[in-house]
Amino acid sequence: MPRRPIKSVETKYMEEREGALRALGRLDRRAFVKVSLAAAGAFAAQGIQSPHSFQPIRIASAAPGARGEAFRIAYISDSHLYERTINDRFVNALMRAVDDVNAMSPQPDFVFYGGDLAQLGQASELELGAQILKSLKAPVRMMVGEHDWYLDLGEKWRSLFGQPTYSFDHKGVHFVVLNSVVEKDFWTARKLTPMQRMRTVAGLDNAEQSAFSVGDEQRAWLQKDLAPLAPSTPLVVFSHSPLYKLYRPWNFWTDDADEVQAILRKFAAVTVIHGHTHQVLTNRIGNISFHGLLSTAWPWPYAPQGLPELTVQMGRPNPFDPSDGCGDGGLIVHPDHPDALVDTLYNLWNRNPVTVPGTYLSSNGAQHRPIASETKSY
Ligand SMILES: [Fe+2]
Ligand SMILES: [Fe+2]
Repeated sequence: MPRRPIKSVETKYMEEREGALRALGRLDRRAFVKVSLAAAGAFAAQGIQSPHSFQPIRIASAAPGARGEAFRIAYISDSHLYERTINDRFVNALMRAVDDVNAMSPQPDFVFYGGDLAQLGQASELELGAQILKSLKAPVRMMVGEHDWYLDLGEKWRSLFGQPTYSFDHKGVHFVVLNSVVEKDFWTARKLTPMQRMRTVAGLDNAEQSAFSVGDEQRAWLQKDLAPLAPSTPLVVFSHSPLYKLYRPWNFWTDDADEVQAILRKFAAVTVIHGHTHQVLTNRIGNISFHGLLSTAWPWPYAPQGLPELTVQMGRPNPFDPSDGCGDGGLIVHPDHPDALVDTLYNLWNRNPVTVPGTYLSSNGAQHRPIASETKSY
């Protein structure tokens, strides 16, 4: 009897996906609506809300108008694109996020990209990412991640997106974007090629590279940038790595985080938004609230030690579902409440969305604890 070949998870996934796409191509509009409704019904049956809804966030304590003129930012992060011919799964995931954001009504004031657009910093990967992001309807603000940088030390990224360190004001809020993935030169003495350097950094959990930092130059710039601002100014700082020391073996870490936090200490309250950790992650240190962003490509597991107490975990994703634990999201910014400035929405692609309210952090967990998406954990 002939034996059926055993198919890998990857092959099965690709076959299923292609089958579904072929079937979709054969549908006329009426049939498509039926399929869409059936899909929505299946979600409802599982107790999952429509995953792409981006519905306005309801904060239990907030009376209408109590928080002044809030505005929305969408975020997309950590897409880790390979060239399409090598792996189109991550490309499709980024396009899915772009569709999510373009479906938001009203549109966000801008879209923030959290870094690691590319996987190996190659011109073709970055160009592909830039091309996809061009189809966003709202303006885009970019941040760099280590995967974008260490092939050519940022040359291609800068040619596409400009300088990685900058600030701007929007509706009374001061925003700062940093390059927090500066590494000490570990490559010259070891005579590494650019690709060897890139692969070493992309390895993340190896002891060969140095730790990430913001570095002297940017810290001096930050001090100068913030000098004219009153301590009551609502302030958001974007960094790719978390601006605190979470778990060094995986580089969930910024080596000069203490020095950066010291610069931010003059403000009554600061919100830091970071990429890199690919998970729902929440922390509060002194006057600073920290929110991590989801990745469109894959979720990292939680660090085995040092997880901040305020983090309401999103549950271990299903290893056989490549989109589980991935997603995109939004930031609802409340300029009248600098201490609880940002509510972060995690739009998990096949789970209920999770909102982490700014008030949960400013109360150090005493109020408005987020409701975990669901208990499903694999
Ligand atoms: Fe990443
Ligand atoms: Fe990263």
